[in-house]
Amino acid sequence: MDASPDRIRIMSGDITGLAVDAIVNAANRSLLGGGGVDGAIHRAAGPELLEECRTLGGCETGQAKLTRGYRLPAGYIIHTVGPIWQGGDRDEPELLAACYRNSLQLAVEHDVRRIAFPAISCGVYRYPLSEAARIAVREIRHFLTGNAPIETVYLVCFDDEVRQAYEQALAGDRAG
Ligand code: AR6
Repeated sequence: MDASPDRIRIMSGDITGLAVDAIVNAANRSLLGGGGVDGAIHRAAGPELLEECRTLGGCETGQAKLTRGYRLPAGYIIHTVGPIWQGGDRDEPELLAACYRNSLQLAVEHDVRRIAFPAISCGVYRYPLSEAARIAVREIRHFLTGNAPIETVYLVCFDDEVRQAYEQALAGDRAG
């Protein structure tokens, strides 16, 4: 399969409502919940999610772990921990790239065909938006080019600023 542009789709809205095979959570290393998209996912999935998360022993930055989706329409939740932006010289780009790669790898291992990502690290963790969007698009495209059996990757935007950043990153990536 090639990485044709329509395998990566930008969409606006709340990731918790999506009936895809897996949604990705921008979690923290404890995996025990928090604010932002993490809080929204835990609220929507219900308390069984926290119970399963307690058995996982946390997650290192850049890594990913999978749970069931419980009350979500999505079958699975892939929890990944983005880097906290500290100026860019603490391996933040590599760690953010690893979040996308490891989440996609885990998805493939669980026969996920349609997966949705929020803008990892772009909220509380303060990663500069255009740079984060560029990394997301680059890593997803690269992964899809490598023969991955993933049909569609949705980039879910909670606000217009995020949407613009993804649109620019997709356009730039195609041109380059
Ligand atoms: N659907 C889609 N995107 C959302 C939603 C939603 N329901 N809610 C927020 N976003 P953030 P981070 C967007 O802060 O920067 C948590 O407390 C949001 O607008 O959720 O990786 C964790 O426990 C932003 O663009 O995640 C960690 O401690 C993007 O999701 C910490 O925050 C990510 O914002 C992780 O920080």
